[in-house]
Amino acid sequence: MYNKNTLKVQKRYNRFSFFYDYLEYLLEKILFTKLRKETLGNLNGNILEIGVGTGKNLLFYGSKTNITGVDISPKMLNKARQRAGKLNKKINLLEMDAQDLKFKDNSFDYVIGTFILCSIPEPIKALKEIKRVVKPTGKIIFIEHVLSKNKFIAFLEWLHNPITVWLLGLNVNRDTRKNILESGIHITRDENLAFFDVFRRFTGVK
Ligand SMILES: C[S@@+](CC[C@H](N)C(=O)[O-])C[C@H]1O[C@@H](n2cnc3c(N)ncnc32)[C@H](O)[C@@H]1O
Repeated sequence: MYNKNTLKVQKRYNRFSFFYDYLEYLLEKILFTKLRKETLGNLNGNILEIGVGTGKNLLFYGSKTNITGVDISPKMLNKARQRAGKLNKKINLLEMDAQDLKFKDNSFDYVIGTFILCSIPEPIKALKEIKRVVKPTGKIIFIEHVLSKNKFIAFLEWLHNPITVWLLGLNVNRDTRKNILESGIHITRDENLAFFDVFRRFTGVK
């Protein structure tokens, strides 16, 4: 059974599953789709996607991949299943908590997360699980919006965090780089993608 905070996040995403893709429509058009494409298009092998949501990434994985997607929200997963059904790819979608993954150690060639470490109640716990299930030769890739090093931007992020938490259980002021390092994952690449250093891609290994 999920703990209280995880249940809260689950409820929020269940509630917003219907609107979710519409809420992100503009950002998707101007930025996210491009980032998904360039990040996922060349991956091969056994892939785990954490917080697969409505399945927006599924389209962009190559044909030589075996994809497992997990999410805490059954309603977000229903949307992802509709998307997956239209694609001719090996995709397995499961309800599962990223903080307690039911996979064996060293199972995946890649673990992917896009805009997910902001909403998991205990991100370091999830990151330790991700580290456990990725192969020693595997890669971990996240695209995230994170707390800026720029004081003014960081102030704005702190200011509107209560609204995004209330609306989507989404924390825009998390120091995700620090959390990744604290989990023991080694960051091999840290790229600023957009809005100064707010949208970032982290590549790592266990
Ligand atoms: C902001 S959405 C991102 C969805 C998708 N990755 C994307 O790029 O559009 C965050 C997703 O993480 C899921 N989530 C939140 N906490 C989770 C947890 N503990 N375990 C698994 N999924 C979780 C939510 O249900 C939601 O679908």
